[in-house]
Amino acid sequence: MGKRLIFATNNEGKVNEIRQILGDGYDVYSLKDLDIHTNIIEDGHTFEENAVIKAKAICEETHEMVLADDSGFEVDYLGGEPGIYSARYLGEDTPYEIKNAELLKRCEKAEGQERTARFVCVIACAYPDGKVETTTGVIEGVLAREPRGKNGFGYDPIFYLPERGCTTGEMEPSEKNKISHRGIALRKMVEKLQKSGE
Ligand code: IMP
Repeated sequence: MGKRLIFATNNEGKVNEIRQILGDGYDVYSLKDLDIHTNIIEDGHTFEENAVIKAKAICEETHEMVLADDSGFEVDYLGGEPGIYSARYLGEDTPYEIKNAELLKRCEKAEGQERTARFVCVIACAYPDGKVETTTGVIEGVLAREPRGKNGFGYDPIFYLPERGCTTGEMEPSEKNKISHRGIALRKMVEKLQKSGE
């Protein structure tokens, strides 16, 4: 059995990535696993603020150390949109085929360097004594010309990595986790936890 770790999310796609990144050393519990239905209002103005809001809210409820993340997709041609509104872009329940097609359409005229984009992830760890720590991971790429790949989720089919010649939607999950924003932020957090003896 690994060490018990609560990750404050209902997104099963994320939990699966996190379990794969952390391996057998940790038993990761999602909000669903713990039957927690707290309605958290993510009204921060940055990824960091929102990650801290989520981790603190669940830590106050469980009185245990809690991790949470906030992540999103930034397109430079659109001034960083959808950014912290990535999940809510065009409406929370709108299929990603539509969200992705709309982003590509809005960027039709963008050429070369104008198409730079990135995934950003901030992980927050909240402790029962009120202490909070955060780590950040970023993966740089460009907006693809058309969606490609059935792996991953969300904006993966339109996020192209020039040095790999594919989108993150075309990568094997284990390959994506090695280089992803979430993988980077999570490994930095694990290092911090291990240093502080958690
Ligand atoms: P959060 O659950 O509030 O952190 O929202 C994150 C949103 O950003 C997701 O719903 C996706 O739209 C987008 N996103 C974050 N990470 C990824 C990724 O690895 N691939 C594709 N989309 C992502």
